[in-house]
Amino acid sequence: MKKPDRYATGRTAQLDLDGKILHLPIIEGSEGERAIDIRSLRADSGFITLDSGYTNTGSCFSEITYLDGEQGILNYRGYDIKELAERCTFVEVAYLLLHSSLPTREELDHFRHLLGQYALIHEDMIHFFDHFPPNATPMSILSSMVNVLCNFYPEMGEDPLQDIDVTSARLISKIRTIASFSYKKSMGHPLVYPKADLSYCGNFLNMMFDSPVRPYVVRPEVVVTLNKLLILHADHEQNCSTSTVRIVGSAGVNLYASISAGINALWGPLHGGANEAVIKMLETIHKDKDNLKKYIAKAKDRNDPFRLSGFGHRVYKTYDPRALILKEACDETLKVLNVNDPLLDIAREIEEIALNDQYFIERNLYPNVDFYSGIIYRAIGIPTNMFTVMFALGRLPGWIAHWKEMQEDPMRRIGRPRQIYIGPRRRPFVPIDQRSP
Ligand code: CMC
Repeated sequence: MKKPDRYATGRTAQLDLDGKILHLPIIEGSEGERAIDIRSLRADSGFITLDSGYTNTGSCFSEITYLDGEQGILNYRGYDIKELAERCTFVEVAYLLLHSSLPTREELDHFRHLLGQYALIHEDMIHFFDHFPPNATPMSILSSMVNVLCNFYPEMGEDPLQDIDVTSARLISKIRTIASFSYKKSMGHPLVYPKADLSYCGNFLNMMFDSPVRPYVVRPEVVVTLNKLLILHADHEQNCSTSTVRIVGSAGVNLYASISAGINALWGPLHGGANEAVIKMLETIHKDKDNLKKYIAKAKDRNDPFRLSGFGHRVYKTYDPRALILKEACDETLKVLNVNDPLLDIAREIEEIALNDQYFIERNLYPNVDFYSGIIYRAIGIPTNMFTVMFALGRLPGWIAHWKEMQEDPMRRIGRPRQIYIGPRRRPFVPIDQRSP
């Protein structure tokens, strides 16, 4: 990582605290993002800052992803995601996130070779799948199985960065096998092992859908769509799951355990779980479609917990650039596969109503990445309870890149926010027989 001092502007912000003037350095990132450096604030003044939900807090310097939520810009390592989604495979983008530059042909071949080499999981791990209850959620299976990888592949050792390239390839390859095995087990169907002659996405599709009674033919158009989906999910700077991976990793925990924690954070319906929630919402509205306006009204009602899943974003105050690409991909995929999904019509109608409704306009609420992705997953045969697993597959290279960047950061310290205590002040202890109810 480049030396952060390089981003000091030499300018300061003045803060008047009870007459004491503090000069806080102003920092500027490579795309012009500005920050006030408060790292010495408490030591110099005794004050901390309060920022619930971390809406204004920069937790680190990062060279991985740039996001401008006002203009709808998203770049990985300086490349526009639209161009990456159109011109790259997911494996190339994973390499880019991990290694900072797009791979040469030789580098890509080597990376692919590693992914092929590590595609199997230890056979003993397969028995674990048998002992989850029949309706176990795929996200809990995924996080458990990823966590347990550290026992089967413990060679990370004392130095967290030792063999990181091998560990990263191992994880990226194995997560796809774990995900598809968990689906096969949930169906009670025989497992399909990875094949050396299939691409990353082709292999995943084959492991999901091939069966002894109905051989699966990998369609190139579906592979293209899946690559696009995974690329668009591959990183999104300091979101909830990525920050989780960083904060867990900052305690010195190994990569597998940190990623497992990230998977659990992603699970939530306000985060990656929204793709599943969108489809459930669309299905509910479909059954009651004469009442579409009722659901819009519920979403706007402050006293009703219902929200439009797949709408709104902490950072984007315009159309999520990923959603724009996926909206188009959704139309294309359904056309190519000759699928007519009534949920797409409902989604379009909701978008049309919301984008012209004052409530959504005033709050800058637009479709996000999860709004159209589920309809594409359905069209290619992925069951709804696997949608967030698909998000995890895509996000994995981003999580690893952040974990690695954090480990390499010379300024790394354990993540440890402070708080403003508002509980009772110190009081005398009351023996049990003198306590009143
Ligand atoms: N439907 C209706 N109202 C909404 C929605 C929505 N989807 N999202 C935000 N609002 C309202 C919210 O009620 C609030 O209104 P008011 O100012 O009257 O109190 C205002 O908009 C600001 O919302 P917020 O909750 O303060 O915004 P946030 O930045 O804390 O939350 C969010 C962001 C994504 C959690 C939220 O927009 C949401 O719950 N959306 C639905 C879930 C979803 O689609 N999540 C996926 C996010 S993108 C993928 C990812 O990150 O994993």
